Amino acid sequence: MKNLFSIEQLSKNEINEILQIASEYDLNFVSDEFRHKKLVLAFFETSTRTKLSFEIAAKNLGVQVIDFMPELSSIQKGESLVETLRTLEAMGVDVAVVRHREEGTAKMLSTQLDMSILNAGDGVNQHPSQALLDALTLKEVFGELEDFKITICGDILHSRVARSNIELLSKFNVDVSLCAPKELLDNNFSSLNYHDNIDIAVQESDVVMCLRIQKERMEQMEVPNTSEYFEKYGFKKKHFEMNKDILLMHPGPVNYGVDIENGLQNHDRCLINSQVKNGVLTRMAILKKILNYIGK
Ligand code: CP
Repeated sequence: MKNLFSIEQLSKNEINEILQIASEYDLNFVSDEFRHKKLVLAFFETSTRTKLSFEIAAKNLGVQVIDFMPELSSIQKGESLVETLRTLEAMGVDVAVVRHREEGTAKMLSTQLDMSILNAGDGVNQHPSQALLDALTLKEVFGELEDFKITICGDILHSRVARSNIELLSKFNVDVSLCAPKELLDNNFSSLNYHDNIDIAVQESDVVMCLRIQKERMEQMEVPNTSEYFEKYGFKKKHFEMNKDILLMHPGPVNYGVDIENGLQNHDRCLINSQVKNGVLTRMAILKKILNYIGK
């Protein structure tokens, strides 16, 4: 695997292979196997989890990490994104992890450059490493990616996490439902089950994955009233009582009091901390596959 743009490009076998490699790592793993490799973090949108877990993952594998800061770069003098990464390539950088608000950025870059490109989120389109780390988290609980029901709840329309997760879970035998205000659904997923409110979703599911309302992508659209949204779609303490087996996921960042009731972060059926930990392990596995492909 030279690049990672989307879940669509991965076969079931490739996904299983990445998850298997990830499951064999732990957070204390340290190696200098790839000490001659250089990776740039090129984030044109904000990030905590994705950026820093890619940095930790790369360093665990011995890779040299360069943090590119767009606001301090010659991008501010008009240099293009392609020219910027071409410049880094000429300095010996092997891999770029790119987050950008424009859909298709990672794929476009791969057609212009020799370096490996990893998509760390392109607009509302894809966030493949997030779906892979979520799959690892689900696999740890259920053993296999099959025979359980998950509801993705919240702003589906603007969510690259939802899109990537639906694509990944649909390759396996997982029952995926959606729960959202009608205006935040995506017509492309009209074949999936729909729950009109989170109470029903919790009763009908094994897992609820809540999402943040992505105000920054709403443009002319009216942002939902947050207290009304929380009432109908927010995950609350009572939901852990309503279904004694229900598991809670969220890709983060969480808006507590809107997506999830405050105080649930450390509940034993809240998987958010596992998702964050698995973010490092999964990104180590993705990098391992890419670095093996391009050679030491
Ligand atoms: N889940 C996720 O992409 O989080 P960050 O925006 O913090 O990277």
